Amino acid sequence: MNLAKVLKQKISPKLHKKLEEISYLSNKLNLSSYLVGGTVRDLFQDGLDRYDCDVTVSGGDVKPLAALLQSQWKCELQSYPAFLTHTLQFSDRTYLDIVTAREEKYSKPAALPVVIRGTLLADLLRRDFSINAMALSLNKNSWGELMDPLGGLMDLKNKKLKILHAKSFEEDPTRIFRAAKFLCRFGFRLKKETEAALKIAIQEKIIAKLSGDRIRLEIEKIIKEREPFPVFKQLKQWRALEQIDPKLKWFPSQIFRGDTKQSFKERAAFYLSLMLFGNSVERVKGALEKLHFEREVQDRVLENLNLARALEGGESVLKLPQKALEKSALLFLNYTVQHIGKQRNLKKRWQEYKKWIQCRPLLDGNTLIQLGFKSGPLFKEIFRRIQIHKYGGKLKNLNEEIRFVVDNFRRD
Ligand code: CTP
Repeated sequence: MNLAKVLKQKISPKLHKKLEEISYLSNKLNLSSYLVGGTVRDLFQDGLDRYDCDVTVSGGDVKPLAALLQSQWKCELQSYPAFLTHTLQFSDRTYLDIVTAREEKYSKPAALPVVIRGTLLADLLRRDFSINAMALSLNKNSWGELMDPLGGLMDLKNKKLKILHAKSFEEDPTRIFRAAKFLCRFGFRLKKETEAALKIAIQEKIIAKLSGDRIRLEIEKIIKEREPFPVFKQLKQWRALEQIDPKLKWFPSQIFRGDTKQSFKERAAFYLSLMLFGNSVERVKGALEKLHFEREVQDRVLENLNLARALEGGESVLKLPQKALEKSALLFLNYTVQHIGKQRNLKKRWQEYKKWIQCRPLLDGNTLIQLGFKSGPLFKEIFRRIQIHKYGGKLKNLNEEIRFVVDNFRRD
């Protein structure tokens, strides 16, 4: 099967040109290049355009090719010799991985593999699922030919996810997370033998052997999915989430798409807060630390949970830290109150909070300076006092706010 036309339609002209240049230089260096993995898989999916891609090279050392491409494209080159991988990074933040076709040997389950040079077939055989083990030739005489020795296309058409050997999950338990992700993203099912292997791996508590960093990376990738909750739900059903930390409970039951305008950190904090609401703050803190989530994400989740608890416990909104109530905290609380906040307190406090937000002063720092005040901590106090008065139904316009400030604060 030749996919040259599909390739041209599916990837950007810019990327297509790059692949042609790789083809030309590989030919000159007597190397063979192939597009592999997710990019080939996605050539068969509707509406999925890719900007990044992986190229596997066989027949010799890939380093000279990577160096030539770097000087031709004037981009950054990062090399990872232990993994025989070279990443070319472009100024538009897209990247291209050029990797030597390789075999992987695992010294023990869940360890990072030892990587050695191999054939294209060996390279495809070491991959996670058949749908991700197809290659597309970038070579001069066979440009666009699909190499599918492991039946990936058939599985893709039958909507089946199949591992390539029985120990796949044991060797790389992150594939359990990946399986849930692909099943949900594409609406696929596990092949019978794959399901049996996955269950055995989970029974053997294989996820617990992964480092916090590797687990976090998979969680982050799931959070980047269009719909993260079904993926977490699937993992929970498999009893995989509980292996991350046996004492931590996950509640991925809400069907909700985060705001796509959110930054990744906001999105991560939002989803983690919703799923972990229901655990003690201390427990969540321990788990997030173990997984090495970015400090900012950790802080936001803990702030969210603390706020929700405070509101639930009847704490007045006037006493809550205002900064924490921004961004993901606001979204989280709004959602919590609407969908899981059964306690009357939480709802009542939330209404109060919304009113409080609307009471922000009309007067700003410039006005205070014009009135003769020197900028400093007093400003914050003035704003807060105005807000409290407005909350109580007073100070209906800017003039009244100015009057209040002049009457109640000294200018020296
Ligand atoms: N791969 C693997 N085992 C893993 C991770 C990756 O075999 N644990 C292989 C698969 O062939 C995969 C390729 O490496 O297709 C690239 O991995 P990655 O970029 O993480 O995933 P994609 O398949 O491209 O998926 P996505 O669409 O989520 O980017």
